[in-house]
Amino acid sequence: MIPREVVEEIVYRADIVDTIGSYVTLKRAGSNYGGLCPFHSEKTPSFTVFPATRSFYCFGCGAGGDVITFIKRVENLDYPSALEFLAERVGITIPQDRANERGELLNRKRIYEMNLEAAKFFRNCLFDPKLGQEGMQYLKSRQLSGATIKRFGLGVAPNSFGMLTDYMHSKGYSDEELIKGFLCGKSQKTGKSYDYFRGRVIFPIIDVSGNIIAFGGRVLDDTKPKYLNSSDTPGFKKSRNLFALNYAKDACSESLILCEGYMDVIALHAAGFSNAVATLGTAITSEQARIMAKYTKKVIISYDSDEAGQRAANRAMKLLEEVGLEVRVLKMNGAKDPDEYIKKFGSERFRQLLGQSKTGFEYKLENVLAKHDISIPQEKIKASEQLCDIIAGVTSSVEREVYIARVAESLSLTAEVIKNDVERRRSKEIRAQRRKESRDAMNSAKNYGDRINLDSAKNVAAASAEEAILGLLLIYEEHRTAVEKGKVDVCADDFFTAFGRRVFEEIMALQSTEKGFDFSLLDEKFNSDEIGRITRYKIGRHELRENGIDVLTSSVETLKKEKQRMSEKSGDDPFATIKRRQQNAADRKNKK
Ligand code: UTP
Ligand code: MN
Repeated sequence: MIPREVVEEIVYRADIVDTIGSYVTLKRAGSNYGGLCPFHSEKTPSFTVFPATRSFYCFGCGAGGDVITFIKRVENLDYPSALEFLAERVGITIPQDRANERGELLNRKRIYEMNLEAAKFFRNCLFDPKLGQEGMQYLKSRQLSGATIKRFGLGVAPNSFGMLTDYMHSKGYSDEELIKGFLCGKSQKTGKSYDYFRGRVIFPIIDVSGNIIAFGGRVLDDTKPKYLNSSDTPGFKKSRNLFALNYAKDACSESLILCEGYMDVIALHAAGFSNAVATLGTAITSEQARIMAKYTKKVIISYDSDEAGQRAANRAMKLLEEVGLEVRVLKMNGAKDPDEYIKKFGSERFRQLLGQSKTGFEYKLENVLAKHDISIPQEKIKASEQLCDIIAGVTSSVEREVYIARVAESLSLTAEVIKNDVERRRSKEIRAQRRKESRDAMNSAKNYGDRINLDSAKNVAAASAEEAILGLLLIYEEHRTAVEKGKVDVCADDFFTAFGRRVFEEIMALQSTEKGFDFSLLDEKFNSDEIGRITRYKIGRHELRENGIDVLTSSVETLKKEKQRMSEKSGDDPFATIKRRQQNAADRKNKK
């Protein structure tokens, strides 16, 4: 356990608006702040930060909590690691013996040190005349210069089960650490570790602070899988990092080039395009889009020219536009990816391609026109429908106007016709959206499909009384004291949902400790979804004007009454049960 004074100090110093503001663009709205939710994809902001209660809540997806919950979610960390992460940010040291005591051996720093040691090992192997011969030959066959190999810190993992493991043991790293850090796999039979990367060239993945956070490894031939990547660890989340951003960040004031593969990025950097980055073996995420938006204004998507690459480009375009980036798409002919293109046609031709890259809309327009022969009326109608759909999705009315003119021209139709079609689609979509919103609101009011509080749908009145009680207890010390001292008579058994009971118990358990209740301490007891729900109780209550003891008392009454009513109805009434038993016994006697 991390001492609670330390937890409180961390939460106090890690100002929630500052901390969240470094991940989400926040705009002031009254006494709160709003922005686009980092936990689900949205176009209009439903994510809110409440400085007064030091909490955040997304009205769209229900994510919520305090600054610790936010870091847990956004960095994919457990409770102790999230605290360590925040502690480092605000310059607080968590007492180390405590950290070891709770078996929290593997913090980020340790992983970074371990990875650095492993990277040195891989590099030394590559430059070893015997061990590295094949790997070096492969990299040369891909036309990588010595300078490029050094710049990217490339290496090779020997084809052996234990060389890295033995080396890392000699440097003081335990099996457990090596397995957790994805440098080793774990044998099912013996539980011992073995080298995870074998017979592969190694690409270290370096974050913008210069830490080696993970590795990718490529086979030297055509065996599958072609690439092996470290999985997420406390120090590394794929969806929040981009390959080579550590270099590209200094060269991207104009634009970033987004590729699919490690090798594309390396070839581009070697050819002088040091603003190239790639996602890490996964489709681009909205987090990565937001990271790019931090560093640049324009992204040129430069994906593989095959079907899959083009589909991925469409998805990337959408995510990048959502975060406000200007998007271009590059079209290659005669080569499957940027690496191959540069080798075949040289870097000058690639530079020309960059210059000719299409805006998102041009790209979509060309794709539609390429698929339909518009000299055939039926095909022209189809093309027009698809294009109107695309334009209807554009938020800016000026942009829509420009695109309408462009489509009218390409299809030889009047702008008015296209405009009518676009507007019809827009109002239809808006209506559907409104319907969906009110349906969602109704459902959540009725608590249908509630995964967090399963029982709440069984009695809405009782559930909302519970929410009121918990909200009041979460905010007001005086109410907690009143319950503790028995001035308000409510206990865990009065709660009818299992979740509500649990929340009540944890609040009161903390209340009875010497230092009393603190919201941050709930982060250790509940998962992030649950914390989101608890936050809803809190801010829902905070927004209401009447929060006095009489509200608490009357909510308790409602809860008790509802519970009584339900148990009578379901026949749980102990007296009813006794009566029934007596009756049955009497019946049996009579029969005899
Ligand atoms: P590509 O197959 O296009 O990679 O996959 P590449 O970089 O062009 O590979 P070369 O040129 O054949 O060496 C694109 C990216 O997808 C991920 C890798 O990050 C790769 O760079 N990938 C691909 C994997 O993670 N695993 C795989 O098995 C294949
Ligand atoms: Mn390739």
